[in-house]
Amino acid sequence: MSAPNKSYDPVEVEALKPEAIERMRDEALAAFAAADSLDALQEAKVAHSGGTSPLALANREIGALPPHAKAEAGKRVGMARGAVNKALTARQAELEAERDARMLVEEAVDVTLPYDRVPAGARHPLTTMMERVADVFVSMGYEIAEGPEVEAEWFNFDALNFTPDHPARQMQDTFFVQGPKGSDGDGESGVVLRTHTSPVQARSLLDREPPVYVVCPGRVFRTDELDATHTPVFHQIELLAVDEGLTMADLKGTMDHMVQSLFGPEMTTRLRPNYFPFTEPSAEMDMLCYVCKGESVGNPDRPCRTCSSEGWIELGGCGMVNPRVLIACGVDPEKYSGFAFGFGIERMLMFRHNVEDMRDMVEGDVRFTRPFGMEI
Ligand code: DAH
Repeated sequence: MSAPNKSYDPVEVEALKPEAIERMRDEALAAFAAADSLDALQEAKVAHSGGTSPLALANREIGALPPHAKAEAGKRVGMARGAVNKALTARQAELEAERDARMLVEEAVDVTLPYDRVPAGARHPLTTMMERVADVFVSMGYEIAEGPEVEAEWFNFDALNFTPDHPARQMQDTFFVQGPKGSDGDGESGVVLRTHTSPVQARSLLDREPPVYVVCPGRVFRTDELDATHTPVFHQIELLAVDEGLTMADLKGTMDHMVQSLFGPEMTTRLRPNYFPFTEPSAEMDMLCYVCKGESVGNPDRPCRTCSSEGWIELGGCGMVNPRVLIACGVDPEKYSGFAFGFGIERMLMFRHNVEDMRDMVEGDVRFTRPFGMEI
């Protein structure tokens, strides 16, 4: 057995010579410094600190050295590898920071730039308003009823107890499609564009057996010029309840419930005597001004634009169904009574949203509708 090779000179292992180790280290540091991207750095990392890099190979040579030479060579290689790893980590951090800064600039989004996406459409505020009102009654168990916009004169007027000479029938209010009644001498019903949603009351009573609880939203027509407060085509919502024992207290309670649902729990309504041929007694229905809650009345320090400091806003007409209407529709007025009310949706939208000009609602300009949101 041969003795250990005491005369072995570590200097003879080329790869472990101090100059060689220094060169390997310097080449690695230079390669890292020269890497101008994370990809280039990854390549330099494989070449200079990977498993087959010169320094890793030199490290393997240490095992072949005699014990007394191992420590020094190990220290030399270890220090060189430490410096290489430290430089690698530092360069990596530098390049990542550069990349992040570049991304922030390159991928920045200027939210003030105009965009070319087509916004989603939404239904018109009048439609959503009308449905919101109808929903109040649907949740109370009412049924939605609809009727034709081109209506028989009989439903629009006669069934509702408008006498033949009632001024509302005149040409200046009503769009006649055919007629007016009796104009051609045959006494047949003319045909009109309905002037209100009330004919749906008569249709509902003819279609159903009492009890009847219906709400009728829809479009109506009158020969008005389009201006800030009139439009020849507008919307109404009508309510009709016919049952045994209904009284004006039921009418009032129902109206109060509606304004509370739409405008808040402290809301209420009041009735002022009026005349409609199809209700008896009839009334004008006002609701408490939902802006000032009546506090502007007699209080010059707190004027209210919404109600002109009146404290109340006129909403529409109402009353107990005239027994003549019940009879015309085949309902026994001795057994049944009913109440009805109807009002314009345009007006409600005007005071609920401070819309000053009705023309805005019909012109179709999205700058008017957009602030109402994208409710569909
Ligand atoms: N139809 C009436 C109008 O257009 C409003 C109205 C009044 C409806 C009284 C009703 C009612 O149901 O009871 O002016």
